[in-house]
Amino acid sequence: MYERFRDKTCIVTGGARGIGAAIAYRLASEGCRTAILDIDEYAGRVREAEFVSMGLKTIFIKADVSIEEEVSRAIDKVYKTFGSIDVLINNAGIGFSGKPIELQSIDEWRRIIDVNLTGPYLCSKHVVRYMKSRGGVIINIASTRALQSEPHTEPYSASKGGLLALTHALAISLAPYKIRVLAVSPGWIDTSLWQIPRKEPKLSPLDHRQHPAGRVGRPEDIAALVAFLASDEAEWITGVNIVIDGGMTIKMIYIDENVIEDSIATLIGDRDLASMIRILIESAKEDKEKVKEILRKALGNR
Ligand SMILES: NC(=O)c1ccc[n+]([C@@H]2O[C@H](COP(=O)([O-])OP(=O)(O)OC[C@H]3O[C@@H](n4cnc5c(N)ncnc54)[C@H](O)[C@@H]3O)[C@@H](O)[C@H]2O)c1
Repeated sequence: MYERFRDKTCIVTGGARGIGAAIAYRLASEGCRTAILDIDEYAGRVREAEFVSMGLKTIFIKADVSIEEEVSRAIDKVYKTFGSIDVLINNAGIGFSGKPIELQSIDEWRRIIDVNLTGPYLCSKHVVRYMKSRGGVIINIASTRALQSEPHTEPYSASKGGLLALTHALAISLAPYKIRVLAVSPGWIDTSLWQIPRKEPKLSPLDHRQHPAGRVGRPEDIAALVAFLASDEAEWITGVNIVIDGGMTIKMIYIDENVIEDSIATLIGDRDLASMIRILIESAKEDKEKVKEILRKALGNR
């Protein structure tokens, strides 16, 4: 493992579980003094003990990123403990169980904006006083949902879209102090193995196969990119958003027979058979519905 962060300090918000825990582990493994800020005290303490037992320089501080006094106090404590703050990873975030806008409550909207957008704003605001004299890096963990949507995800998508705008605004404001600011937008990342307690991944072959890269993402994929962007090797990269999604968002989709063939091929893992099924559908013009029905029954068991 490289030691790109020897004598440096990072803060990872939401670092007790999921993607944040993998990022904290990666940076700490590369020699970084690592502060995990998280609202989940139990998970934070377990993670801290785990990393310390591996010889990694880690502290846990309980803080809710949406509350300014807690953020300010936590960041002061990191500085007092480690003597510098060089890297901030704004990772803490909450999701949204989709429902139509008429049923969304204003409290749900506010909580998601508070944690996912106001949180990174507050953490950035309070680390700047420690970064200004020696430079630093702020990385905001956004989402591919900042750029495209499934139905009924307005609070989450808006929070992440706002985070991209916050990223380029801060990058310009803080450039004179040699503080780089970036966004990383993950696609689908299975975090089961980084939960506390650990969970077993429940992914189907179809979940993996639909990604051009052939699999669902792992927290380690994001951690590797974040470590590169936070390192001096990336000193010429600032203000941009980097999508990391196994190729999902570059897939162009038109609904026609080709898509049906692709979907069948993905489902059954056999391109030749999918092609034959498509020909069968096309050639059965008169009784297309009946053929589809037969196929639905046949494929339903797979
Ligand atoms: N998992 C994915 O597929 C995926 C995809 C795109 C983007 N993301 C983003 O990545 C980030 C991490 O997601 P994850 O899947 O690892 O989530 P997770 O739920 O596994 O972990 C989130 C962590 O943030 C902490 N947290 C939540 N609210 C907080 C608050 N107010 N203050 C401090 N800590 C708080 C939680 O306690 C937890 O430890 C989020 O910003 C999420 O939006 C995740």
